[in-house]
Amino acid sequence: MATTLTPVLTDTWDADRSWSLATYEDAGGYRGLRRALGMQAGDVVTMVKDSGLRGRGGAGFPTGMKWGFLPAPDGGPRYLVVNADESEPGTCKDTPLMMASPQLLIEGMIITSYAIGCHHAFLYVRGEILHVYRRLLHAIEEARAAGYLGTDILGSGFDLEITLHSGAGAYICGEETALLDSLEGLRGQPRLKPPFPAVAGLYARPTVVNNVESIASVPSIVQGGSDWFKSMGTERSSGYGLFSLSGHVTRPGQYEAPLGITLRELLEMAGGIREGHQLKFWTPGGSSTPIFTAEHLDVPLDYESVGAAGSMLGTRALQIFDETTSVVRAVTRWTEFYKHESCGKCTPCREGTYWLTQVLQRIEAGQGTLADIDLLLDLCDNILGKAFCALGDGATSPITSAVQYFRDEFVAGTHTPADVLFPPEHSSLF
Ligand code: NAI
Repeated sequence: MATTLTPVLTDTWDADRSWSLATYEDAGGYRGLRRALGMQAGDVVTMVKDSGLRGRGGAGFPTGMKWGFLPAPDGGPRYLVVNADESEPGTCKDTPLMMASPQLLIEGMIITSYAIGCHHAFLYVRGEILHVYRRLLHAIEEARAAGYLGTDILGSGFDLEITLHSGAGAYICGEETALLDSLEGLRGQPRLKPPFPAVAGLYARPTVVNNVESIASVPSIVQGGSDWFKSMGTERSSGYGLFSLSGHVTRPGQYEAPLGITLRELLEMAGGIREGHQLKFWTPGGSSTPIFTAEHLDVPLDYESVGAAGSMLGTRALQIFDETTSVVRAVTRWTEFYKHESCGKCTPCREGTYWLTQVLQRIEAGQGTLADIDLLLDLCDNILGKAFCALGDGATSPITSAVQYFRDEFVAGTHTPADVLFPPEHSSLF
């Protein structure tokens, strides 16, 4: 299962019935909650701010700072919404975490709710993963029966209910405001930001939206302290995270490690590229991030270093491709995904991803023209920064980076049209 360099999130994954409350408590579970309930709520927020924890859903926004954006209490409700709509191609860390250690997430949700003054938290799970939904439902029931949820939690006077909600399987609902619309019973489409959810989120009330892994990191921060958390990772990318290795690697899976580890080091733990093959390209953070090649094996996987090398850390979904893979085919496949998942709200994404797919399919079939490569880049330029949300931007990243590193493969998918080789005015010559 998981290989751990920082056995925190994955600590109990290999234990018998790791998902049960009993196993979790035996391993020290819910100590962080007891500690948090003995603290001032504001001090918990400060502790998470000081830890430097950054959102693990991809954007890397500082978690404690996000909590701090909530306006002062006005007597009305405020919400925590956990984004468990993990859908990015290659991203597969939250699902195993929720299957193996659901109580860790629930403990994190209770601590976070206490810190931000929320009494009704929501857990939004993507529609396709019914087995995870069932596991979470059982875990919430176990936690409630043990007094960790409901009224007067552990005699602290703090009340919290958690509602588990299953989406319908749309990638766009991982975008936080589309998720909120979906939760409200509307069609999931992104909202204009600002206002950010921290100010006007679920039912127009102040709302914190955080990723599963971010929230699951909170109990250990409360227990270990912010200095302990900061002792791992790099100065500006502190702590640990799940690195998901998939594709042409000997032992694919979840590798928990401090941020700043390199792919070379991760591959050593994962048994390397499959035998007899070499690394060709890889994604540092899922398909929405520019691809890397073998020249990036030693880039530290932290937000700053990956950014400086021209990509994004994203969700640490490391999809590994060896020399047998056609980069044009891989990029076409991802683009077909974005086209399918575009919600249709904005023109650059709706029309652009459709058009990109057509051009890529031509090139993949060897029917493209050299001008198609320029057209691809031009289309990407007209989507990037002009789409309503990050979905459109993400669709362009693999294409522009693949053309940058593997232009020859795109050229190989083109032919020079007959009317250029044999212009009609010269036809008498042939
Ligand atoms: P973003 O940078 O716009 O926002 C990040 C978070 O910070 C949001 O919660 C936002 O509300 C908050 N925030 C930002 N500025 C704020 C302000 N001034 N006041 C209050 N709150 C503020 O990024 P976004 O669009 O939420 O996410 C994009 C990322 O999502 C991509 O980088 C990608 O890696 C990741 N992603 C993850 C997927 C998955 O399956 N986990 C799927 C697709 C994308």
